[in-house]
Amino acid sequence: MAQRTLARYLTEEQRNKGVITGDLKFLIEIVSRACQAISIAIGKGGLGGVLGEAGSDNVQGEAQKKLDVLSNDILLDANEWGGHLAAMASEEMDLPHLVPNRYPQGEYLLTFDPLDGSSNIDVNVSIGTIFSVLKCPEGADLSTPEAAEAAFLQAGTAQVAAGYAVYGPTTLLVLTVGDGVVVFTLDREQGQFILSQENVQIPADTKEFAINMANQRFWEAPVLRYVTEMQAGKEGPLGKDYNMRWVASMVADVHRIMTRGGIFMYPLDSKLRGQGGKLRLMYEANPMAFLIEQAGGAATTGRQRIMDIQPEKLHQRVPVILGSKNEVERVTGYHAGQV
Ligand code: AHG
Ligand code: MN
Ligand code: MN
Repeated sequence: MAQRTLARYLTEEQRNKGVITGDLKFLIEIVSRACQAISIAIGKGGLGGVLGEAGSDNVQGEAQKKLDVLSNDILLDANEWGGHLAAMASEEMDLPHLVPNRYPQGEYLLTFDPLDGSSNIDVNVSIGTIFSVLKCPEGADLSTPEAAEAAFLQAGTAQVAAGYAVYGPTTLLVLTVGDGVVVFTLDREQGQFILSQENVQIPADTKEFAINMANQRFWEAPVLRYVTEMQAGKEGPLGKDYNMRWVASMVADVHRIMTRGGIFMYPLDSKLRGQGGKLRLMYEANPMAFLIEQAGGAATTGRQRIMDIQPEKLHQRVPVILGSKNEVERVTGYHAGQV
């Protein structure tokens, strides 16, 4: 059977199912091309001079790596000319990036984490790109980057597409347009993403959890209870032995859950309370929540479904608990009644 490329998958979603518009198809193809370019740059590693610090900080006060900046530039350059976007927002930019006047403006908004898992770049461990697509509200004020921020402040349920690329032993693109989750593998010789898995389903139960255990002393009671119960294994109240994995690249940890189930937690803790959480709502939590729910899993803060959160700020941070449904529901239950 002929290989199904990303372009073919998107064309079928548009033509046969009417799930996406021609502009959204174009947008996703352009993002995928940018991810290919990022994948090539990553592959060159030290030979391409892409490792190490950029020598600057982003708006969140985090030191930027050269690849954070390069990946951001690749995504901006790829997306600004096509006429499909009204504006873009990124982890690496304080304010939205407006489409320059010399190009036509489209109806979509794109947010991205250009390079996720920055601490893993220099140690040659999997990293990724995360993106989310929203419709630009009619009449939105796009006169200045400051004014444009309001257009982005839409709940995750409003997303029309979301995805991530994982730059691992293979480069994968995992995508949803609200019609299930599909996985594409980059064929490096052809320079094309080829469909490798359709209808991804996350098992409802799991024996694998992902959390940064170094933060244990800062956790809230419900998360501490849940992790303690998992550690108690067969002899404990959950009656089974668990295993732990923590890559420290959200894309890689989420992709393991997409592949074989599991639960991922970056919960609220006493250290993070002032900033609301570690992970960013608009370009980390929401796109991942959309993908996880589309694959039959669940994604909450412990107290609220992530996609129901009404964002207040572009770079807002939230607690994240996602993955296998029954486990997410268990830990959410432990939060019930707690403020
Ligand atoms: P980013 O590299 O985009 O800033 O995101 C890093 C995030 C996420 O990918 C990962 O789950 C988490 O930070 C890792 O945190 P720890 O360093 O606390 O393990
Ligand atoms: Mn990230
Ligand atoms: Mn990042």
